[in-house]
Order: sequence, then C-alpha cells, then structure tokens
Amino acid sequence: MVFRGSEIGLGEILFDVENHNGIRKTFKGFARRCSLDDLEAILNFQELVDKYVSNHELFQGRSRDDLIDMFAHNDDIIAVFNKDNMMIGLLIYLRPRNCEANLALDAKLTKDDILKTSVIHVIASHPDYRGLGLQRYLIRYSDKLAKDCGAAYNTATVSPLNPHSLQNFLDKDYVVVQQKVKYNSKLRLIVLKKIV
Ligand SMILES: CC(C)(COP(=O)(O)OP(=O)(O)OC[C@H]1O[C@@H](n2cnc3c(N)ncnc32)[C@H](O)[C@@H]1OP(=O)(O)O)[C@@H](O)C(=O)NCCC(=O)NCCS
Repeated sequence: MVFRGSEIGLGEILFDVENHNGIRKTFKGFARRCSLDDLEAILNFQELVDKYVSNHELFQGRSRDDLIDMFAHNDDIIAVFNKDNMMIGLLIYLRPRNCEANLALDAKLTKDDILKTSVIHVIASHPDYRGLGLQRYLIRYSDKLAKDCGAAYNTATVSPLNPHSLQNFLDKDYVVVQQKVKYNSKLRLIVLKKIV
C-alpha cells in the first residue's frame, strides 16, 4: 500500500505538496523503523544536517552512545529513504520513561506526568529534500506513536530561530509552554501537545 504523506503509516509514502505559488511537488519515499544496522547511516545523516544548518544553534543530533542506548530501550527511530536507499528524514521518538531527555517538567507538567509524556528527540530532513512535507509527516507519525502507546502528551524542543520547524509544530496543534536553555547552552522553546 502506498500511503500519501497526509496519512500515517510506514512503507511507501507519497509526499504531495503544493506551495503558496501553486507549484506542486510529489515524491515517493520509503519509511521504516531503524535497527542498530542503521547506526552509521543515522550518524552520517545527523552530521550532514548539522553541516548545512544556517546556525549550529538550530539542530541537536545525538551521539553514538546515546543512539545505542535508545536502541537498547527499544525507542522508535524512524527514517525515510529515497529510491537509492539514502536516508532523507529522521525521527527519534522516546516513549514515556523516566530519563534525562523527558520533557514533562520542562513542559510545566508534574512529576506524575513523566510516565505519560513522550519526546520527539530528533526530527530532521535532508537539505536536498526540504519543503516536501517530510517533517510534517514525521510529526504526524510521532503523534500516532504517542497515541498507540497511550502517552497523554507529546513534547519537543524547537529553537526560536527555527521558524519553519516551529510553524510545523504549531500547525499540528502543539503549543509553546516555555522557553529555556537546553543542551548546555542552546535556547529552546518547549512545545507540547495533549494526545488524549
Ligand atoms: C526544519 C526542518 C525539519 C523542516 O523540514 P521539511 O521536511 O523541509 O519540512 P516540511 O516540508 O514538512 O514543511 C514544509 C514547510 O516548511 C517550509 N520549509 C522549511 N524549509 C524549507 C526549505 N528549505 N525549502 C522549502 N520549504 C521549506 C515550507 O515553506 C513549508 O511551509 P508551507 O507549506 O507553509 O510553505 C528541516 O529544515 C531541517 O531538518 N532542518 C535542520 C534540522 C532542524 O532544524 N530540525 C528541527 C529541530 S526542532
């Protein structure tokens, strides 16, 4: 089955977007859950994304050790690939658990909410594949993961200098609940969506 980008599922995805000038672009990608075999590809993808951001404040990739730890916790690491099997989109979604990355308290929720709150830990698309709806698809897919695992809230951090990403979250019903310094020295908006 081919999913359109506006639907949510893994496998073949047809991204079909029209910009404000009426220019329509379609693109077929393939989305799947990653395994440890994808570790090098994920690290290379993060490096590429970081290389091409206009400001290194914007993107926070994860280290090799962090990624290995996430695989050990069975976190959902979802990637989209092009027809040549090159990674072009990445979502790292952490199910509700008590870990340093949990954003419940940053999102002004209570300690009791920690085990009800999931995190979009990484979300990015390849510089050559921007504006095709990849981030929007990955946000929607993370909301589905949150719903499926019974999370009450989904959260993420977004740089205030990242208007496209922020707008994509706002369009998907996330709200900004706080601004604070994260990842040692990076200013971040904490965004929250109530799932149930
Ligand atoms: C921010 C980011 C994830 C957006 O990804 P994306 O897949 O291009 O976003 P989508 O295609 O789903 O979103 C489309 C919207 O973003 C806008 N957009 C963002 N970057 C764009 C680009 N380079 N070219 C065209 N449109 C772009 C489009 O205008 C579109 O909005 P519109 O429909 O109102 O015109 C991507 O630029 C990226 O990976 N940046 C570096 C890492 C990062 O900032 N991650 C987010 C951390 S919170």
